[in-house]
Amino acid sequence: MLFSERVLSIEESGIRAIFNLVARSKDIINLSIGEPDLDTPVSIKDAAKKALDLGYTHYAPTKGYPDLLEALALKLKRENGVDVDPESEVMVTVGGTQAIYLALTTLLREGEEVIIPSPAFVQYFAATKLAGGVPIEVGLSEDYLIDPDNIRRALTKRTKLLIVNSPSNPTGAVSDSEKIKEAVSIAVENGLMVISDEVYEKFVYEGKHFSPASIPEFKGHVVTVNSLSKAYAMTGWRIGYVAAPQEVIEQMAKVQMYSSACTPSFIQKAAVEALDSKQSFFDDVLREYRRRRDVLCSILSECPNLSFKKPQGAFYLFPRLKGVNTPSKDLVMRMIKEIGVAVVPGSAFGRLGEGCIRISYATSIDKVEEGAYRITRFLKSISKS
Ligand SMILES: Cc1ncc(COP(=O)(O)O)c(C=O)c1O
Repeated sequence: MLFSERVLSIEESGIRAIFNLVARSKDIINLSIGEPDLDTPVSIKDAAKKALDLGYTHYAPTKGYPDLLEALALKLKRENGVDVDPESEVMVTVGGTQAIYLALTTLLREGEEVIIPSPAFVQYFAATKLAGGVPIEVGLSEDYLIDPDNIRRALTKRTKLLIVNSPSNPTGAVSDSEKIKEAVSIAVENGLMVISDEVYEKFVYEGKHFSPASIPEFKGHVVTVNSLSKAYAMTGWRIGYVAAPQEVIEQMAKVQMYSSACTPSFIQKAAVEALDSKQSFFDDVLREYRRRRDVLCSILSECPNLSFKKPQGAFYLFPRLKGVNTPSKDLVMRMIKEIGVAVVPGSAFGRLGEGCIRISYATSIDKVEEGAYRITRFLKSISKS
């Protein structure tokens, strides 16, 4: 069988591989999870049930229902300072995943390069290749912040796009607004487009989230990707959105039309409820996640084989390994087998992620605590041997 070269050029996600391996095992402490463990708020579930009863079981408009587009425009203005016309500059997607895929497919021509500050979310590499582009991995600073000098150095005649992701998966870093502005300015000066992936925007423990499209001079160059997955514990609902200049949305809508037709109709109705509901419920969520992060960091700071700074956002810690010379993938397999703890190998997040592991604290505090102790003991024991 002769398969598409683009499809053959990508591999299964390193995150999914671990997920599939440990999904059925109850005994494993799973710190590889990339989704909130909490349940979707009841009012959102009720809105979905009501929408089903009201007959929202048919195709929806390609770009989304007008009331949801309106709610998204209001949210973008209120929370992000981003001004968009609901009719022409925003579109509903099947999760942030589809938003990223649509953006890359729409913007890239064969062989054009995408600058990806790395370690980075696995999809950026694969979706770039699927869209015919070339991912260019560019190092972050020592603290995992976006590094404008590295971006400048990576520019070539073929560069088309820069991806910015803050708060970041896998590092948990929150890049400050000045750094992001500097990076986006470089893109704008060089006629590039920027994809700003903001799916973890609400998970910020210190510092402040910044949306580059809030700067009027940047707006015409920025595709803002976001999702209800993490903020409302709705990963399984598959609903996200994208805000971009009108001409970009028009082209993306064509790809949407021929790939998924639309986002499920009753789920769009539930999304309106999510966006209209009181956002203060998230204060408790954030408090709980901060507590988990602090427990994890405090235990692992006693581990001589890990080096890290406390991350300011998302729900991941991405420590570097010290005195452990095993490739991260092999190390993770050993951890699953020998201590019953699953994390994700750093190499899943690009070449520059090797030598690290990603530990998620999107699980109960007891598991986070026990997992951290086991990891500490294990790494100490293998570094001695
Ligand atoms: C950085 C980042 N962007 C986008 C996504 C896509 O999320 P979803 O498709 O569930 O909205 C994820 C999911 O883990 C992510 O970590």
